[in-house]
Amino acid sequence: MDVLLVGGGGREHALAWKLKQSPRIGKLYIAPGNGGTRLLGENVPIGAMEFEKLADFAEEKKIGLTVIGPDDPLAGGIVDVFKAHGLRVWGPTKEAAQIEGSKAFSKQLMREAGIPTGEFGVFTEYEKAFAYVRERGLPIVVKASGLALGKGVYVCQTLADAEAALNEVMVRKIHKDSGDQVVIEEFLDGQEISLHALSDGKNYLMFPSSQDHKTIGEGDTGKNTGGIGTIAPVPWVTAEMMGTLETNVVRPTLNALAAKGSPFVGILYPGLKMSSKGPKVLEFNARFGDPETQVYMRLLKNDILDLFEACIDGTLDKQILEWNSGFAVNIVLCSGGYPDEYKKGFPITGIEEAGKVDGVIVFHAGTVFDGQLKTSGGRVLGVSAVGGTLKEALDRAYKAADKIQFEGKYYRRDIGAKALALE
Ligand code: GLY
Repeated sequence: MDVLLVGGGGREHALAWKLKQSPRIGKLYIAPGNGGTRLLGENVPIGAMEFEKLADFAEEKKIGLTVIGPDDPLAGGIVDVFKAHGLRVWGPTKEAAQIEGSKAFSKQLMREAGIPTGEFGVFTEYEKAFAYVRERGLPIVVKASGLALGKGVYVCQTLADAEAALNEVMVRKIHKDSGDQVVIEEFLDGQEISLHALSDGKNYLMFPSSQDHKTIGEGDTGKNTGGIGTIAPVPWVTAEMMGTLETNVVRPTLNALAAKGSPFVGILYPGLKMSSKGPKVLEFNARFGDPETQVYMRLLKNDILDLFEACIDGTLDKQILEWNSGFAVNIVLCSGGYPDEYKKGFPITGIEEAGKVDGVIVFHAGTVFDGQLKTSGGRVLGVSAVGGTLKEALDRAYKAADKIQFEGKYYRRDIGAKALALE
């Protein structure tokens, strides 16, 4: 079966890598892909938001399955467009993807379904929003309701911080119409973890826990990024905890979406805070996490094509997920300056050497090949490694990360350190 994969980040390189291992795969196209996916299939120069062009391409090439990676096309309704063309596509509809595309929608759904989440209010007017901040007290979290490249969340320690955040989102509109509504939410302490559950709309299958590292600075300091380092599974998250999270978060969320007439087909990725008040959902995502995918694909034994098709066919109850033992990690190598301004176009060397380290595979994210491999984004590469222990996986990934060079290369040296300290 020929497959079209939409997206061009590290998540898509990892999905392409896994898809290529399916004995049933024919030709793999990636639109638009990156400097790494070109080695696994054919990169197609069509953007992820060009729905009609992508659907025409899928028709012309007789694609058997299209897999959607990123959030923006899902929120924009790419799945509905493909379905209208009679094409087979993996991912949630626009209605179901609202769980990520609108934080106001997802918070309201959680309130209605009794899913544990922080106290909140939703506002469209600056004055009312700021009055709520004063009423609730500090610290407090301001969030743009729509998609904002992971940059729409502001943790405010002072009233001045909250004023500045509301000003950016509601007055200066730096996230454009993603800031038409803001969610103001109770600040929660504790560690963040990621859950992932494949769903066919009726049945679901849980992935192991994972933990991303969102801020640019070591010790979880500095600005938020798209996510720059992940481990899986999280050693202190027990099977009992996972059972509770499945019962209290995943199942009721999928049931609530189905009850609204928009069953969720794809992968639901709740981000949680394991707070002193108990686990609380911070947000839902309607797609695979990035860089969570880069670690999950290293651990998953199943043929991912079978899983994608089972989601579409409503036969996920016939599948059992199988995982390699041990741990997987992914260290993201970033462009200097990211998540603020950064320069692109620097040559990259050392990937082959890095790939020779035991257990290591380097996934590309912001790379381009124009006769030479160069940086083209903020998150440039993901150095993934597996190991029998978390420490072994981390040691391997860091050893490999040191072998890769490009001007301005930056990465956190403390990925997994919190989890190791608790072992
Ligand atoms: N891991 C962060 C994200 O995918 O949004």
